[in-house]
Amino acid sequence: MVVNEQKTLEDTVAGHYRQTYSSEPLMVFSPGRINLIGEHTDYNMGLVFPAAIDLGIAMAIGLSNTPYCEITALDESEVLQFHCDHLQISPQGEWQNYVLGVVAQLRKTGHKLQAFQMCFGGNLPQGSGMSSSAALENALVFSLNELFDLQLSREEMIYIAQAAEHEYVGVQCGIMDQYASMFGVAQHALLLHCKTMEVETVKMDLQEHVLVVVNSHVKHSLAESSYNDRRAACERVAAHIGVAFLSDTSLDYLQAYKAQLDSEDYQKARFVLEENQRVLAARSAIEAKDWPLLGTLLYASHQGLKVLYEVSCEEIDFLVDTAKTIDGVLGSRMMGGGFGGSTISLVHRDAVATFSNRLKHAYQNRFNLDCTMYPVKIGDGTRKL
Ligand code: GLA
Repeated sequence: MVVNEQKTLEDTVAGHYRQTYSSEPLMVFSPGRINLIGEHTDYNMGLVFPAAIDLGIAMAIGLSNTPYCEITALDESEVLQFHCDHLQISPQGEWQNYVLGVVAQLRKTGHKLQAFQMCFGGNLPQGSGMSSSAALENALVFSLNELFDLQLSREEMIYIAQAAEHEYVGVQCGIMDQYASMFGVAQHALLLHCKTMEVETVKMDLQEHVLVVVNSHVKHSLAESSYNDRRAACERVAAHIGVAFLSDTSLDYLQAYKAQLDSEDYQKARFVLEENQRVLAARSAIEAKDWPLLGTLLYASHQGLKVLYEVSCEEIDFLVDTAKTIDGVLGSRMMGGGFGGSTISLVHRDAVATFSNRLKHAYQNRFNLDCTMYPVKIGDGTRKL
């Protein structure tokens, strides 16, 4: 079923390319990601626990015989043209800046690119906290690496993708999304130590349980600036206590500085250090097949994100609170940067239908909005098709 869905996406994107350019494209697929637990820890050089999923972006690309690049976003029916020598941020641009940002970073790191033509489409909802942006950045950097034989490693590619987001989109994101999308392993979650970039690949055999992502279909404005504000707060605390990154310290050490710190900043830092601990506890819970404990950790993560880190919102809290009232739901929390997007929940497989119906109904009644369910299928990372 899923394979067919992806096949349809690939065929649509490849078909569009062939029809437009009368030539055969290079095809690449790059997935979105979930994050089991470990939120807002990546840019503090802490621990994250993401996995690539089976949804993402398919891209068709080839050399252009004109002097300029031409990019078609099939889902938006929008076309962007630019010259590699004249790159600038597109003021109204959304997806455009991810594309321009990747090209600009490759140029900045000394890679010569010729004009290319590309089209892409996806089955990953945008702004849902499932990293459609990292999927697009990775798909492009990977495609250009293939097309121009740039000899970049996967690790080099994710830092180019991240820098594109920093400089062209203005979000000072960590490395989790690009990492998970690039390095995903089917049926496994990736416990990544963001400081050392060491990874533990953990088999996700949840027995009779499933992970369900629920897209709230809301993305509040200021999400980007609030994200950057959180990062700045963490950096202030780290600087104050004299460590390079927040995750270099411990809760006890932080506690000793409590009186000297701004109380809001202290709360943010406390959340990050507690969240790092929850990541390790989640890995142990998976190893011990202790699903109630894993669920409790998800709820605790949400509580911290809501109360201490203050990145949740009414709609997402409602989805988590409603999930909590449903038998067979073990845990639930907001996922990703916050201020909207999605929740991720651990649900007994017999309760999935009830979970879905109850949540949709309650959400519709409360906000007059649909929410969409995605039972998670963990897939491989960015790849050539
Ligand atoms: C966004 C960022 C990531 C990470 C998460 C929060 O998805 O892109 O780097 O910080 O938010 O965990």
